[in-house]
Parts: sequence; C-alpha cells; structure tokens
Amino acid sequence: MWDFPTRAFHWLLALSLCGSWATAEAGFEWIDTHDLLGYFALSLVLFRLLWGFFGARYARFSNFLTGPRRVLATLPKLFSRQPSEDVGHNPIGGWSTLLFLILVTIQAGTGLFISDDVMHVGPYNHTISSSLAGQLAQIHHLNFTALQVFVAIHLLAIAWYRFGKGTNLVGPMLTGKKQLQDAALGIASSQTLKALLLAAVAAAAVTALIQFAPEPTFDEFMF
Ligand code: HEM
Ligand code: HEM
Repeated sequence: MWDFPTRAFHWLLALSLCGSWATAEAGFEWIDTHDLLGYFALSLVLFRLLWGFFGARYARFSNFLTGPRRVLATLPKLFSRQPSEDVGHNPIGGWSTLLFLILVTIQAGTGLFISDDVMHVGPYNHTISSSLAGQLAQIHHLNFTALQVFVAIHLLAIAWYRFGKGTNLVGPMLTGKKQLQDAALGIASSQTLKALLLAAVAAAAVTALIQFAPEPTFDEFMF
C-alpha cells in the first residue's frame, strides 16, 4: 500500500525533526548541524509536495485530501472500536499530513531568517530588520511547540488505532504491506526512480535557496 519513497520520507522526517530538536538544545556549537538538519527537513517537505502530485496512488493529495463532508463522516468511525478498513490515509489523516508539511515549512522557513545572537546568522537574516527577525525567532519557538503537540496527537491516534481499534498502522508504514480485501487496491510499484529524480530536484532547489541568498552588504555585515 505505502510506496517506498513515502515511507522513507516519513522516517527521515521524524529523524530530522528529532535531530533538529536535539541540536537546538545541545548548545550553540551545534547550530551548524541544526541548520543542516533544517535544510534537510525542508528538502523532504518539498519532495513530499512533488510526490503528492506525481507519486504513487496513496501518496497523492488527490487520494487523501477530501471535502468537509467526508472528513465529518470519518469522525464517528474514528471513535468507534471497529477496526479500520481504510486503505491509504483516512480524510483526517490526510489533512494532518498537509498540516505537518505546513508546520515543518514554517519551522525551517523562519529558521532561514533568524539569528541566535551568538555565532549564527541564518542566510536571509540580513534581508530583514532585527525586530522582524526577533518576531520570526518567536514563531520558530512557538511553532516548534505546535509541532510537538501534533506529533503527540499523531502518536496517540496511532496508539488508539492499535490498542482501541485493533488496527496496526505502524507495520504498513514500515514495510509498505497491508492485507487488502481486493488485490487490485495494492500499488503495482513504488516508482522509486521517479522519486529519486524528484528528490534531486527538491535538494537542488533548497541548495540554491541557501547558496544564492543575497550576500550581506558591508554595513549589514558590521552592524
Ligand atoms: C517527528 C515525528 C513524526 C512526524 C513529524 C510524523 C509525520 C507524519 C506524516 C507527515 C505522515 C503522513 C505520511 C505521508 O503521507 O507522507 C505520517 C504518517 C504516519 N506516521 Fe508519522 N510522524 C512522526 C513520527 C511517527 C512515529 C514515531 C510513528 C510510529 C510509532 C509514526 C507512524 C505513522 C504512521 C503509522 C503513519 C500512517 C498513518 C496512516 O495510516 O494514515 N509516525 N506521519
Ligand atoms: C524543521 C527544522 C527545524 C526545527 C525542528 C527547529 C527547531 C528549533 C528549536 C526547538 C529551537 C529552540 C527554540 C527556542 O526555544 O528558542 C531552535 C532554535 C534555533 N533554530 Fe531551529 N529548527 C529548524 C530549522 C532551522 C533552520 C533551517 C535554521 C537556520 C538556517 C534554524 C536556526 C535556528 C536558530 C538560529 C535558533 C536559535 C534561536 C535563538 O537563539 O533565539 N532552525 N530551532
């Protein structure tokens, strides 16, 4: 059911966010690693956006971003103890996927503009005023709390599915495999070659964003 690129994206995103957190806590000498992990997370999100349009069946936004009626219709099923029969994301899981992508973009995006006032300046920090940079640093802080809350809800929902509804979601996210009623519901291939190409495009776009950030002028550099 889950193609390999979506699974790789998922676990790499989880690892990179944990790494970003650890390096943010570890002190200013880790800030360069923090940036690199943040750029990596941004590349992952960009890849996932592309994969949402060009990827395998259950990874496509058109497969899981549904209208409000279907979202509301999912609610009673969500809280019943009936095992889930969903193939791919259910409508609520689908919208939370998009929410995660938006939150990670805000997190890494604000990172590009902020400074730790010690030894680190994000590549776009000098393009904005220091008061705006201060506000973006606050958003960087608050948005991370929002990410932590949503990851906690994510894990609670998965635990509810496992122990409340008797549905194992983690197995398919690890192996890609799920027992389906109808073999035609399965995906034929992970389309990994296409994914590698899109991943290269995403990595190149983020590298360009950082490499081609405007150089600070002498005044901006000194003050
Ligand atoms: C920083 C931590 C995490 C983040 C940001 C995160 C984010 C996400 C995202 C964005 C998706 C959608 C995948 C896609 O369609 O591309 C997802 C799905 C999923 N995640 Fe996580 N995840 C995290 C940690 C975990 C952990 C630790 C587990 C396992 C215990 C887990 C299990 C799952 C499962 C099973 C799904 C598929 C849900 C479904 O069947 O609809 N996640 N997660
Ligand atoms: C998605 C990836 C990222 C995550 C999860 C993340 C997370 C965090 C966290 C938890 C903090 C501590 C916040 C606080 O309590 O003050 C922090 C601080 C910081 N982050 Fe990030 N960050 C990410 C990406 C980035 C990027 C891409 C950059 C820069 C290029 C960056 C630059 C900074 C700086 C400079 C600080 C210190 C801010 C201060 O001292 O006020 N971060 N980050």
